[in-house]
Amino acid sequence: MGRMDIPAGKYGSSWFDVENVPTNYAFPEKDRPGELPPVCHTLPVIDLGNASDADIINQILKASQEFGFFQVMNHGVSDKLLGDTTNVFKDFFKIPEKDSSNSCGKSNWVYASSTSFNRDGVHLWRENIKHPCNPLKDCMQQWPENPTRYRDVVSTYLTEVSKLGKTILGLICKGLGLEGGYFDGISEVELLSANMYPPCPDPSLTLGILRHHDPSIITILHQGTVPGLQVMKDGNWITVGAVANALVVNIGNQLEIFSNGMLKSVEHRVVTNSSETRLSITAFINPSPSCIVEPAQALVTELNPARFKPTLYKEFICKSGALGTHTKDLQRE
Ligand code: OGA
Ligand code: NI
Repeated sequence: MGRMDIPAGKYGSSWFDVENVPTNYAFPEKDRPGELPPVCHTLPVIDLGNASDADIINQILKASQEFGFFQVMNHGVSDKLLGDTTNVFKDFFKIPEKDSSNSCGKSNWVYASSTSFNRDGVHLWRENIKHPCNPLKDCMQQWPENPTRYRDVVSTYLTEVSKLGKTILGLICKGLGLEGGYFDGISEVELLSANMYPPCPDPSLTLGILRHHDPSIITILHQGTVPGLQVMKDGNWITVGAVANALVVNIGNQLEIFSNGMLKSVEHRVVTNSSETRLSITAFINPSPSCIVEPAQALVTELNPARFKPTLYKEFICKSGALGTHTKDLQRE
């Protein structure tokens, strides 16, 4: 029986296997999630397989303006591949010593234990792995060697997710009245970040990820069957329902800038739960570091002037307070 399968409450075999939340995992009152809201069923789940492009575009734009988030189904990433990828990460997080130095001395991934994150002495209730993904063929040579299927499965997953990203960005461009092809050079997944959030004895005190915006163009997330992602909507946190085999898509800061504010990059965070381990696999489609991000010319008019200054993506990442605390360590060139 693996560590992911151990029910909470056996106390002592790992950092999260505790009766009470240790004080260095309890956030100060203002950050605590407190009572958790019920799952929100109003966040749209958009069927990409079963409607006209015009209909899908309408749904995507509406959700992107209202929530900054939507879910997609019939998205082209097979259930089997989603399951395989989930299992590879489950196995990865079970490995007791996750040391990123490997036999040829070359690796590009970072494993973060729960204590790696430290804000005023408080840790997040999660473990994490991150690595770059583009160009895929080069990057994958430096990913984890264990589990042995890691490189094979994760690269296949990212190839499929990049295709989906391209499709979604193409639809968004059409919807904004822009020529397709705007994002052709930059619609690859640049960064992968996977999280393991173990069961927590008191979810009202802890967080899996602090509130943040994604500094991406778009983010494509697989959260499996366990909810935990919350999105800020009209001053309240709403919990994104877990729809099996759907993918969650959100608008990042760079697409908000590019769309001159028409699409919203919305704040979100991750809460924990007391019964099940949650695994999330997050693929960030980002501009390249040397890309200058600015509102699309076609969306800037005298009546609707540019709301954002052109910014080198690299500088945005360095300067932006909006970056949050969880991706900072990995925005490398
Ligand atoms: C992120 C993020 C959500 C999740 O990695 O930026 O918001 O459910 N993840 O893990
Ligand atoms: Ni995020």
